[in-house]
Amino acid sequence: MGSTNPFNDNPPSIIRRIFHLILYALLPISLLCLYFNLFYLVTPSSPTHFLHSTTISTYHSSISSSHHSTSSIAKNKTYAYKNSCDYSNGDWISDMRGPLYNVTTCGTIKESEKCITNGRPDLGYLYWRWKPNQCNLPRFEPNTFLKLIKNKHIAFVGDSLARNQLESLLCMLSTTSTPYLVYQNGKDKKFRRWHFPSHNANFSLYWSPFLVHGVERTNEGQYYNTMFLDIVNEKWAKDINQMDLIVISIGHWFLLPSIYYENDLVIGSLNCPEFNHTQMDFYVPLRKALRTTLNSIIERKQDKGSGIDVIVKTFSPAHFEGDWNKAGTCSKTKPYRKEEKIVEGMDSEIRKIEIEEVESAKLKANEFGGIRFEVLDVTKLALLRPDGHPGAYMNYFPFAKGVSKYVQNDCVHWCLPGPIDTWNEIFLEIMKKREVQ
Ligand SMILES: *[C@@H]1O[C@H](CO)[C@@H](O)[C@H](O)[C@H]1NC(C)=O
Ligand SMILES: *[C@@H]1O[C@H](CO)[C@@H](O)[C@H](O)[C@H]1NC(C)=O
Ligand SMILES: *[C@@H]1O[C@H](CO)[C@@H](O)[C@H](O)[C@H]1NC(C)=O
Ligand SMILES: *[C@@H]1O[C@H](CO)[C@@H](O)[C@H](O)[C@H]1NC(C)=O
Repeated sequence: MGSTNPFNDNPPSIIRRIFHLILYALLPISLLCLYFNLFYLVTPSSPTHFLHSTTISTYHSSISSSHHSTSSIAKNKTYAYKNSCDYSNGDWISDMRGPLYNVTTCGTIKESEKCITNGRPDLGYLYWRWKPNQCNLPRFEPNTFLKLIKNKHIAFVGDSLARNQLESLLCMLSTTSTPYLVYQNGKDKKFRRWHFPSHNANFSLYWSPFLVHGVERTNEGQYYNTMFLDIVNEKWAKDINQMDLIVISIGHWFLLPSIYYENDLVIGSLNCPEFNHTQMDFYVPLRKALRTTLNSIIERKQDKGSGIDVIVKTFSPAHFEGDWNKAGTCSKTKPYRKEEKIVEGMDSEIRKIEIEEVESAKLKANEFGGIRFEVLDVTKLALLRPDGHPGAYMNYFPFAKGVSKYVQNDCVHWCLPGPIDTWNEIFLEIMKKREVQ
């Protein structure tokens, strides 16, 4: 599996992957057609359905209009409950305070996300704060977070955005306590663990972009993924019993050509034209993979009688602009305003599936105490930040030798520091709310 086809979580391969995605999409039909096909496959209505389906469902209760931001953990249940807020909808507003950390204070930033070090000239993207419609999102408080995870093991499981988010979190926590890398597997560092001796807390990173068992596509080998939708990937699931909190991130790998199995039989494939499988879109497979995952967590934890918190981060849209088939860029330097962009199409569909599966897992878990599910809804706030990606600055001074005819861009991952830090601010608010429930 992963050991024979390790995913090189390095910039060129990420971008090659995206190019391959686009190339394969272009093989049978134009990209636009693919997109419309994807939409048609999930909805019988016309493409204009998407133009009009602009409503973003709110799954969180928005009860009050203000949020307190004390540096201590909320102890007053009534107060905390009254102040729960929908963080998923809002606007980015100017904030001169800037980030908590920089590349000097944080040693765990991946080279391709060190945008400033890599020569990104504009720094305006660092001076925005997410303002939810009904409340304020407090600035990240490393000490509060560390208190909440004392004696706990937190696992980030999924794709490279799980890694991106964990690296942001470690950078913010590093401002008050030093984490030590205690385990690392392979040169691609797909599996890593950090230990905070100050709070006996551990963070693990598990690479598993489908969550379920499978084989990832590679540039050298098979161009398609193979996924066993009903079998959870033991690479991370074997450790479920040692985990106290799991943060899940999936999405982008499902867009790639794939063959899907259930009960060891092929049920269909996506963009693998040389086989005679039924062509499927990836929405049903994504839903099944997530369902298998959440069910496995419930079953295993229920057997052990121990509790767990599971947080599913929703889809983080990519921001390629311009000619998709000619290596799009993301060169914007300011966020969109909330009214400029709605969550729609594929972004909306993936997000909806993720939220629905979490809701359904909540119902199943209700029968057993201690297993709690939550959505970390970042889709809208991420969509509004085309300026937050490394773009060309995934590489060190990409234009140092003059503007070449083609410069690779990363418009999927996020600069550190950058807008992804906000995901962890919301993560902290979820944990604070949990603490008082
Ligand atoms: C909890 O907070 C509310 C609102 O500030 C306050 O009215 C109430 O007295 C507090 N309860 C306790 C037990 O502190
Ligand atoms: C990084 O942050 C530290 C502490 O706030 C500060 O002393 C240092 O000058 C900053 N370095 C850069 C490169 O901004
Ligand atoms: C964290 O990992 C260390 C080993 O690095 C272990 O001794 C400790 O028990 C772990 N703590 C938790 C809460 O998992
Ligand atoms: C697919 O079907 C065609 C026509 O029935 C057949 O000629 C071809 O061998 C099949 N390909 C595979 C890989 O089974």
